[in-house]
Amino acid sequence: MANLVATVLEPGAAPVAEGAAAGRARPAGRNPRSAIKKVAFAHPSEEEFARLLDFYQIEWVYEPRSFMLQWEGERVTEMFTPDFYLPALDLYIEMTTLKPGLTSVKNRKVRRLRELYPDVKIKLLARRDYDRLVAKYGHGPLAGAKTEGVGRILFSADQIQMRVRQLAKEVSRDYQGRRILLVGVLRGMLCFMADLMRYLEVPADVDFMALSYYGGENGGEAVRITKDLEMNPSGRHVLLVEDIVDTGMTLTYVLAHLEAYQPASLAVCTLLDKKVRRLTDVPLAYIGFEVPDEFLVGYGLDYREEYRNLPFIALVKQEEKKDETAAPPAARERQKP
Ligand code: PRP
Repeated sequence: MANLVATVLEPGAAPVAEGAAAGRARPAGRNPRSAIKKVAFAHPSEEEFARLLDFYQIEWVYEPRSFMLQWEGERVTEMFTPDFYLPALDLYIEMTTLKPGLTSVKNRKVRRLRELYPDVKIKLLARRDYDRLVAKYGHGPLAGAKTEGVGRILFSADQIQMRVRQLAKEVSRDYQGRRILLVGVLRGMLCFMADLMRYLEVPADVDFMALSYYGGENGGEAVRITKDLEMNPSGRHVLLVEDIVDTGMTLTYVLAHLEAYQPASLAVCTLLDKKVRRLTDVPLAYIGFEVPDEFLVGYGLDYREEYRNLPFIALVKQEEKKDETAAPPAARERQKP
């Protein structure tokens, strides 16, 4: 799968690899044999990212294309080779984790690429975003950061209840005359699911699924269902209930699994949408709140299994970790678009 010799693309050329289609990740159980061992990654964080993609069975290619950005006559003066291409999502990913000082250069290159190749979808994964992403799985420099308890409250218990009631009203209206099968992916959705179902004005059954967690370097396996549904979703109106959608990788996997049962309908209701972190696009029919890229706890959400029982949703107060490799604040300011 890895292609070490990048194809060079000029503006106007077809930007997508042959056979690549926009859409979802591959269906459950069809994980391609990983190319990790065959690729000479420029940085360990890229290898870790490839491993995470493998875990969620999202096909990737490392540095498959170079894009011409500047030229003088016949001579190309600037090229850009994004780190990853995800064929199923038709998405390039550029990571700025190597040398944070180069972030502004990469930002500029990505902007130029978007200008010259407007059909190319590219996402810049900045060092801070990447560190936060892998910290979620217990890896990277932020994984060991100590917490100093609960910080600012983002949504009070009353605000949450009010929003959940509104969502339940919308769902009840849309599913009038039908019986819903509410499906929850354990465990973060437990408070949301419990409240949502109590506010529903249509009949509903409930069932749960559980997935294995990403284990990092030593995990070596793909995501799998550790607890499957006990009710048959075939021909049912399935509403998948989530506490939060972040990268979208969990949902992409679960939706592919549920679709295979051929339900009468399948939709997603999430309390929180951390849209800024999305890697895989997922259709969300009902969204409670859009939230920033912060560690959130409470109302079912945990930080290392703590704080799930708080009735409100708050930010985690984290110890500021000194990061010698990070760009100085002035440089960070300049990187803002
Ligand atoms: C949370 C949440 C979603 C998933 C979303 O679960 O409940 O299932 O993350 O993340 P993604 O969009 O990046 O895939 P988590 O893994 O924290 O486990 P938990 O529900 O047991 O807290």
